[in-house]
Amino acid sequence: MNTGTTAAAPDNPFLPTFGTTPPTLAGRDDVVARFARAFERGPQHPDYTMLITGVRGSGKTVLLNEAEDAALRLGWRVISMSASVRDLCRLIAGAAQRHLSEAVDGAPSRRISSVQVMGIGVEFEPSQQTDDAHGDVNLRAVLTSLAELLARDSTGLLLTVDELHAVSLPEATELAVTIQHITRRELLPVAFIGAALPEIDETLLADRGMTFFQRCARARLEALGHDDTEEALRLPIRKAGGRIDDDALEHLIGASGGHPFTIQLLGYHSWEMATPAARISATHATAGALEADHAVLEQIVKPIWSGLSKTDRSFLWAMSLDETDSEMSCIAERIERSPNFAQTYRRRLIDAGAIESAGRGRVRFSYQQTGPWLRSQR
Ligand SMILES: Nc1ncnc2c1ncn2[C@@H]1O[C@H](COP(=O)(O)OP(=O)(O)O)[C@@H](O)[C@H]1O
Ligand SMILES: [Mg+2]
Repeated sequence: MNTGTTAAAPDNPFLPTFGTTPPTLAGRDDVVARFARAFERGPQHPDYTMLITGVRGSGKTVLLNEAEDAALRLGWRVISMSASVRDLCRLIAGAAQRHLSEAVDGAPSRRISSVQVMGIGVEFEPSQQTDDAHGDVNLRAVLTSLAELLARDSTGLLLTVDELHAVSLPEATELAVTIQHITRRELLPVAFIGAALPEIDETLLADRGMTFFQRCARARLEALGHDDTEEALRLPIRKAGGRIDDDALEHLIGASGGHPFTIQLLGYHSWEMATPAARISATHATAGALEADHAVLEQIVKPIWSGLSKTDRSFLWAMSLDETDSEMSCIAERIERSPNFAQTYRRRLIDAGAIESAGRGRVRFSYQQTGPWLRSQR
């Protein structure tokens, strides 16, 4: 009913929520093209088993969703898991078993996720429980049966595992052995994409037993460049019927550092500041950036901090004494450790997403909110 007031303001197009597909997926065409081509070519294509790494908020989960959608469009079946659950392999086996019975029944292909198989009992034909002494579902047996069936129909299965850095070593081993056998040795159509924080290089991938994961093709999600960041901001605004002034746009691009989650936050809060006019000026952008700053601190900086060790933290405390980039030699002095020791921690903190290289012998915080926040805690 028309109440006589002005037309409702257009909806905010930005989505600052983890795991949610952005209004414009900028700068990731190459990665999307890589897995799409691999699905087409088959198990011998190097990108058929892939590992996506990137810091929090760089867009890993969103890319897994893209891959799953691409697979579904090809009529493939999809198993979508997060390694942060317990019993990862048992859940994968449960999902595979469901797909198997659905495929036998001729049901349409679909995506089965961790939550859909959690809590349900998993049963498997006793005859197929070959080498499993515990009576659990045999992951390799059920996945092989499914893959053989799908191969006959010229389709495939995509298995995605998010948060792979959180996987336990026994689960990682079982998963690796299984896919190694099915995809690499038997050349059956089970494609695999894992997503993890970069620290996986120092943890899981540093383990000698993990050759399967070490040999997966890598997609390292870097910060978006200027033009991709511009597209990620400008396109959604325009499509939603809004406008942004050039100086406002440049301000947001600079403030984002090319970090996808921050881009969504900046777009979202600037849009809110401009509501109901939907024309974002430099004033709106500045005010929006302040709000976004706060959100980055709460949703990224503090979670990273809480995962750090005491020594990691002392490194960051030492950095917070500098208003700009920090010299590694100064940090080593301040924490009273050798330069070598400081290098080890530098690496750890880069992988944790807390800091980044700022050129020869220098480091800076990945999120510029970190320094002021730490100084306010002293
Ligand atoms: N390429 C991109 N362009 C614009 N926004 C993106 C892009 N990739 C991700 N985002 C947004 O960034 C946020 C974080 O993405 P997500 O996939 O959850 O990150 P991660 O899994 O790496 O922590 C989401 O709000 C998402 O919409
Ligand atoms: Mg994620």
